[in-house]
Amino acid sequence: MPEMETTNLESELSLFKYDDLEQLPERYRDLNESERNERITEATEALGDDVVVLGHNYQRREIVEHADFVGDSYQLSREAADADAEYVVFAGVTFMAESADIITDDDQTVVLPSMEASCPMAGMAEALQVDAAWDELTAAADGDDIVPVTYMNSYADLKAFCAEQGGLVCTSSNAHRAFEYALDRGDTVLFLPDKHLGENTAHRLGMGDSVAEWDPWDPEAEDAAAVAEADIVLWDGYCQVHERFEEGHVRAIRDAYDDARVVVHPECRREVVEAADRVGSTSTIRETVAEAAPGETWAIGTEIHLTNHLRRWHPEVNVVPLCGDACMDCNAMRQIDPNYLTWVLEELAAGRERNVIEVPPREKELAGVALERMLEV
Ligand code: 13P
Ligand code: SF4
Repeated sequence: MPEMETTNLESELSLFKYDDLEQLPERYRDLNESERNERITEATEALGDDVVVLGHNYQRREIVEHADFVGDSYQLSREAADADAEYVVFAGVTFMAESADIITDDDQTVVLPSMEASCPMAGMAEALQVDAAWDELTAAADGDDIVPVTYMNSYADLKAFCAEQGGLVCTSSNAHRAFEYALDRGDTVLFLPDKHLGENTAHRLGMGDSVAEWDPWDPEAEDAAAVAEADIVLWDGYCQVHERFEEGHVRAIRDAYDDARVVVHPECRREVVEAADRVGSTSTIRETVAEAAPGETWAIGTEIHLTNHLRRWHPEVNVVPLCGDACMDCNAMRQIDPNYLTWVLEELAAGRERNVIEVPPREKELAGVALERMLEV
């Protein structure tokens, strides 16, 4: 990995990449909603065109209502790139704010309101583990070329690593094209960190029979030569929110509603995706419900805040959560408390920058290459 030093695996692995970011001051902890709304509006009016607030589809209502744009992780990066504002306040998770920093101009500043908004799946492919796996797999590949492809849900150092090794980044909507790009240039794709998106993509390309898994937590147990023979090697990472959905939930929904259709995110398990009627990114899920006829029933297999937004935004459609009360919210997205949003905006209005996400220059340059390659596919 660029600019990474190998020391001790146990002590180096950490869930929160930016653990030096600041905590919410005491005086912001008990604001009520109407006070908060007033203060957020006042701060954004004072900042005017100098600020843009971006909100991911999984953010809670109190955040989404203050966002200038609400979308999926790829759309939000594009919005950040197109924004003229000096400050991009990113209500999402760390890897998204990093991507925004990578593709915005150097004179733009990206702020992530809370330090603890770190996607656990992105944390499942740490630089040290990837380094070690890469060495083993490339040594075992016997002259075959391995091309790494990382999902957008990964940290900037992994994106930079992929660029250095001839690979690229993908989102849930263009993973199949990224795989094709990689297979045009090599023999094997190493896909990180989401094994389910990787497996779903392999099946979409008719390559489901040539898939192997790499367990980064127990690399000694792996037969690197056998793994490297596969066309697609999947890193053993996953999203807890999406792993929760099971094929039985799809069956239960179809039993409960005669006309129900099911749309799921591709981070869901293979059998859930196979059983669903539609699969796609959070923006595809939004479009599906927006295009539904009044009275149709759609069961949603993704994070619960988005399902709740869809119920509010489209009351004419019967929107139901795919696994009922068992559907989860994303613990990382939840860290963007509206009080944090109030704080960072008021601080910016007072001329102080808080919780700035700044990717180191070399990583930024290389990760930018991996993102540009994605835009080409
Ligand atoms: P989208 O890119 O579809 O918005 O998904 C991001 C994500 O984190 C899904 O869990
Ligand atoms: Fe990460 Fe899953 Fe949350 Fe998406 S829903 S940000 S993949 S933990």
